Amino acid sequence: MPPSRLSDAFRAHPVHLQHNHLDLESVREVPDSHAWPELDDYPSAVTVEDSNFDVESVPPVIDLTDPNAVKLVGHACKTWGVFQVTNHGLPMRLLDDVESQGRRLFSLPPHQKLKAARPPDGISGYGLARISSFFPKLMWSEGFTIVGSPVEHARQLWPLDYSNFCDVMEEYEKEMKQLAGRLMWLMLGSLGISKDDIKWAAAASKGESGGVCAALQLNSYPACPDPSRAMGLAAHTDSTLLTVLYQNSTSGLQVLRDGAAGWVTVPPLRGALVVNVGDLLHILSNGKYPSVLHRAIVNRTHHRLSVAYLYGPPTNAQISPISSLVDPNHPPLYRPVTWAEYLGTKAKHFNKALSSVRLCN
Ligand code: SIN
Ligand code: FE2
Repeated sequence: MPPSRLSDAFRAHPVHLQHNHLDLESVREVPDSHAWPELDDYPSAVTVEDSNFDVESVPPVIDLTDPNAVKLVGHACKTWGVFQVTNHGLPMRLLDDVESQGRRLFSLPPHQKLKAARPPDGISGYGLARISSFFPKLMWSEGFTIVGSPVEHARQLWPLDYSNFCDVMEEYEKEMKQLAGRLMWLMLGSLGISKDDIKWAAAASKGESGGVCAALQLNSYPACPDPSRAMGLAAHTDSTLLTVLYQNSTSGLQVLRDGAAGWVTVPPLRGALVVNVGDLLHILSNGKYPSVLHRAIVNRTHHRLSVAYLYGPPTNAQISPISSLVDPNHPPLYRPVTWAEYLGTKAKHFNKALSSVRLCN
C-alpha cells in the first residue's frame, strides 16, 4: 500500500502517544482521562448476553461450504452488515498462533512497546486506537498495526528473536488476503456483480500486484477495574471494503442494527471469523449493504485480544456505486472517491464521512 497517501489522511489529527500512554494493566481505578460519561449514552446499550442468544438476535453464522453461501452472505450484508463465517479454511493452529504472538507483544513492558511506536507520519507500529483523536476521552485499549512487512517494528521489540512473530503474522496475512478476496466476491456476487464489472477487483482476484491494499490490526483490551466507565473501542464504521476479525473466546464486539433496541454482542465462536461490511462496500453497493456501526467494550477479568484484517481497494482506484445497481429508480447515492480521499474525508468528518460523499440528502 502506498503508505504516504494513507498516512496523510490520518496526520490531520495527531495523537500524542507518549504523552497519553498509560500502563492499563497496572492501574487500579479508571482515571479521568479514560472515564467515559455513562457508557449507555454512547448511545443506549442493551446487550444480548452470550449465554441466552437465539439465532435471530445475533448476526448470522455462515458455513462457507454451504451451497447457499452467496445467498446467505447477501442476506446478512443487507440486514446486519456483519456475520460470522466457519469452514473458512484458516487452520485453528494459525489462529491460536496469532493470538499467542499478539499476547506476547502486548505483555511486553510499556517502554519496550514504545520502541515500536507508530511514527506520526506512518501507519505501522504500536499505538493508541487510530480513532482516539476523534473522542474527548481515551480508550481502554492499545493496538499494533502491520502494513507490509512487520520486520522493522518486530526487530525493535525483540532484537534477537523477532522471526517467530514475523513468520506467524506473514502467514496469517497471506491466508487472510485469500480469504478476504473470496469473501469480497461472495459479497459482490450476491449483488449480481461479476468480475468484469470492477477492474481492480478482477486484477486482485488474479493475484496481480496493484490489486488490493490491506492492513493487519492487533487490538488489546486489558481487564478493566470498572468496565461500566471505560470504552475499549468507540463506535465506528470501518473505512474498508470489508474487515475480517478474529476474536477468540472473550466477548466485547458489539454491533448496532437498524431497528434493534440497542447494541448487540457478537458472541465469540471458537474458530469462527467475524466479517464486517465497510464504508467502501456501502458505497459500491449504492447503500444496499450498509456498513455496520460497531464498538468494543471491556470486562473486569479477561484481557481480550482481537485481530482485524482491514481489506480495501488500491488507494487510487475510484470507488462509486456499481453501474449495474444504478438506474432511473435507483440513482447513484455517492460520488466517486478513492480510498485515500475517503480517509481524508473521514479524518475531517469521522462518523459523518459517508454523508459527506453523498450526492444528495
Ligand atoms: C475493530 O473494530 O477494529 C475491533 C473490534 C473488536 O476488537 O472486537
Ligand atoms: Fe472496526
